[in-house]
Amino acid sequence: MEKKWWDASVVYQIYPRSFQDSNGDGIGDLKGIISRLDYLEKLGIDVIWLSPVYKSPNEDNGYDVADYQQIMPEFGTMQEMEELIKKSAQRGIKVVMDLVVNHTSDEHAWFVEAKKSKDNPYRDFYIWRDPVAGHEPNDLKAGFDGGSAWEFDEATGQYYLHFFSKKQPDLNWENKKVRDAVYEMMNFWIDKGIAGFRMDVIDMIGKKPDEKIIVNGPHLHDYLKEMHAKTFGKKDLLTVGEAWSANEHEALKYTKPENKELNMVFQLFFSQLDQFPDKDKFFTKKLNIAGIKELFNRWQMALNDKSCNALVLENHDLPRTVSQFGDETTYRIESAKMLAIMLYMLKGLPYIYQGQEIGMTNHRVTSVDQIDDLESINFYQKVIASGQLTKQEALDCINKKGRDNARTPMQWDDSLYGGFSTKKPWLAINPNYQTINVKEALEDENSIFYTYQKLIRLRKEKPAVVYGDYHLVLDVDPEVYAYTRTYQGQTLLVVANLTKQTKELSLPKYGLQTALLSNYAQGVIDLSHKVLKPYEAFVIEIK
Ligand code: GLC
Ligand code: CA
Repeated sequence: MEKKWWDASVVYQIYPRSFQDSNGDGIGDLKGIISRLDYLEKLGIDVIWLSPVYKSPNEDNGYDVADYQQIMPEFGTMQEMEELIKKSAQRGIKVVMDLVVNHTSDEHAWFVEAKKSKDNPYRDFYIWRDPVAGHEPNDLKAGFDGGSAWEFDEATGQYYLHFFSKKQPDLNWENKKVRDAVYEMMNFWIDKGIAGFRMDVIDMIGKKPDEKIIVNGPHLHDYLKEMHAKTFGKKDLLTVGEAWSANEHEALKYTKPENKELNMVFQLFFSQLDQFPDKDKFFTKKLNIAGIKELFNRWQMALNDKSCNALVLENHDLPRTVSQFGDETTYRIESAKMLAIMLYMLKGLPYIYQGQEIGMTNHRVTSVDQIDDLESINFYQKVIASGQLTKQEALDCINKKGRDNARTPMQWDDSLYGGFSTKKPWLAINPNYQTINVKEALEDENSIFYTYQKLIRLRKEKPAVVYGDYHLVLDVDPEVYAYTRTYQGQTLLVVANLTKQTKELSLPKYGLQTALLSNYAQGVIDLSHKVLKPYEAFVIEIK
């Protein structure tokens, strides 16, 4: 595969609302991010992916954009955005923007116009249908509340489509004017010196609502090819699609370089290993931890040298990984480090979500008024109204899977409000900030933070981490993930016990070795007979 500027990079996702408040209003902002660039430099990351900072009424915390070319006043100004790009660049850090173009806010000027009349020039920017026998055009459901995806507009007598909240009307990508307006906006940001785009629910832009096709519509890939040609194609930018529907074969359609679409898509199926195939994500079953190995292995094999994996375990939509896949009490540190070693030594580009590098955990709420996330609130109301769950059961579900778990403020130190703000934050801070915080992590040489720092460094020091061929090691326990990475005569062996149980490991061909990196103090490791401790993980350079 062609070499790219980001091959040895690591991306760090910032959820601006919760990263750092600079002016004491309880809401994170751009100046706050700028003030923490030293920290990011110390961690060693190369790229920031900024969740949306555009003007928005915050129905869905910025994923409902009212103006793509203005900054949300709560976050700061365009000048501060430019300063962030500049000051990051001075530290060798690039900035990737979130591109939310499946839908806009209903407060976007396009929609305000579109609503005015059926013959308004912007009407066709959105998807309008006449009622059928006085009802919705069909039974398509919206993602966030399971209600209809069609909202009736009294004034003009038609329904508009919204796959998320009704304040997030879907754009009509079949309209060339929409596509051109989006490309123009993208070029505006490219000219500001950004390094790429993370594309929100991009698998939905080719939808055919009349045929009830939501993802992977017939023209999806045509639109992405057109976007590539008209915006980032010649600029060598980093593009990553959020495509929940993409299995490894679909992923290749987006990402094979010769297709001229995107560089990579997120692999997100791992987050569903505790879910039922046909139920709401909030109803969980016992986690199938061996599924992690099966999934990541499958993607490694399929993408291999054809295109790039996006290595991710956390983001602003998912629970915290130590809580979901590790152990947030007895083995919090060991399991957080294990998950990092297991994931970031794979082939692909690593993404770290703010707080993951210090092992932040889920945050439990005790009543619905403590919840901000729209999706969780809708779920709660639905299951209470239908009598399906008691209040406590509904909260238990939300505490496991709700999106607020990852959105609580960044825990910087043990002062009131965790160093995030001087005022009560917009969303309560996790009470464990007094022990789990950046200050504590930086002072402890064995902290999770330094495992991340070392992993990032290894990437720069050992080409095998970036370019090495991937091979699954067979003949190990199904709940132990072991693989090798080989490049120009150098072989790295990665072993991760995914569980709390001890596990036997026997790889006689490797014999006695020492670890480059591990989550337990290690002397010489005898790989012909090794008993792995709970969540034990290590990287060895085979000698
Ligand atoms: C994506 C975002 C999520 C948002 C949704 C609608 O899944 O990551 O936060 O709510 O799209 O824009
Ligand atoms: Ca602020």
